[in-house]
Amino acid sequence: MQDELNKIKQEIFEELKKISESEALKELEIKYLGRKGELNRILRGLAELSGEEKKKIGMLANEIKNEITDKINELRILFGAGVKTEFIDVTLPGGKRPRGHLHPITIIQNELEDLFSSLGFMVLSGPELESDWYNFTALNIPPHHPARDMQDTFYVDKKNENGEKDLVMRTQTSPMQVRAMQKYGAPLKVIIPGRVFRSEATDVRHEHTFYQFEGLMIDHNINFRHLKGILELVGKKLYGPDTKLRMRPKFYPFVEPGANGEYTCFLCHGAGCRLCKHTGWLEILGSGMVHPNVLKAGGIDPDKYQGFAFGFGLNRLVMLKYNIDDIRLFNSGDLRFLEQF
Ligand code: DAH
Repeated sequence: MQDELNKIKQEIFEELKKISESEALKELEIKYLGRKGELNRILRGLAELSGEEKKKIGMLANEIKNEITDKINELRILFGAGVKTEFIDVTLPGGKRPRGHLHPITIIQNELEDLFSSLGFMVLSGPELESDWYNFTALNIPPHHPARDMQDTFYVDKKNENGEKDLVMRTQTSPMQVRAMQKYGAPLKVIIPGRVFRSEATDVRHEHTFYQFEGLMIDHNINFRHLKGILELVGKKLYGPDTKLRMRPKFYPFVEPGANGEYTCFLCHGAGCRLCKHTGWLEILGSGMVHPNVLKAGGIDPDKYQGFAFGFGLNRLVMLKYNIDDIRLFNSGDLRFLEQF
C-alpha cells in the first residue's frame, strides 16, 4: 500500500506540471483527493491492516495529502493572479467585515436593565472579590451558619483593608444590597447584574463562574404586593404578556418572609411539558422582604423603612430560553456555540 501511495503521489505531481489553469486544477483535485477520489480508493484497504501498519500508512497518506493540497493552493493563487480575463462586477455590494456580537447572557441582561431603568432603578455592579462580611455575615448568614454550606466559594489568601484575611470570590450578587444601602441610604431602587463564583465540581448544571441578577427596593411602607408587581413585570418581559407568577414560601437567610418565584412555562403555557417537567411552572427566582438584620447592616432603620429583594441566575434564563443543555458552554469561548445567537 505504501508503494501504491507513493506511486499515486508521483502521478499527481506529474499531472500538476501539465496544468495551467484553475478549472483543470479543480478537476484534478476531485479526481485524486475528492471523496470518491483515488487516494480514498487506496485507503479503503486500511481496514485489512494491523494496528501498527494502519497507523503508519494513515500518517503517510496524510502527509501526501497535505503536500498535494499545499501545491494545489500555491498553483491556485498563481493561476488566479495570472488570469487577465478576470471579470470584476463593480455593481456587487462591497465585502463585509465579519463583526462580533453580544453574548447571549449580555443580551438578556441588557433587556432586563432596560426594563428596570425605565422603572427608575439604578444599575450597579460591584466587587467580584468580596469580603466574607458582605458576602455572608451582613446578609444574616453568620460564621458557622449552615446556609454557608450551600455556597462554598474560593477563599483568597490576601488581607482586606482592615488587615484581615477574609476575602472571598462573591457567591451571589446579594452583598451589593448592603453596599448600596450604605452608600445611597433609603429610599433606594437598585438592580445589580454581575458575575459570581462557587467552588463546584462542574457538570452540565454546575459551573464555578456564572451570572446573577439582583434587585432591591427600599422605601416607607413597602410590602409584598410591590414585590409581586415587579416580579410580574419581569415575567411578562421575559416570557410574554400572558405569563403568570406563582410564589411559594422558601427560606433565604436575608429575607423574611422568603419566597421562590415561578413563571408559567413559556413552552406549554402552563399545560405541562418536558421543559417544565410537566408542572406547568418554571422556577426562576428567589425573593422576599429584606430581613431587619440586613437593613441594619446597611445602616437603615428597620422601624422606618421596609424593602423587598430578589435574585436569579441569568445562565438559567438563557438555558431555558434556547434549550441549552450544558451550562459550561457559556464560558467555553466556543464559537460554534456563540455564533448561534
Ligand atoms: N442570593 C440568592 C442565591 O444566590 C438568590 C436570592 C434569593 C437573592 C432571595 C435575593 C433574595 O435577593 O431575596 O441563591
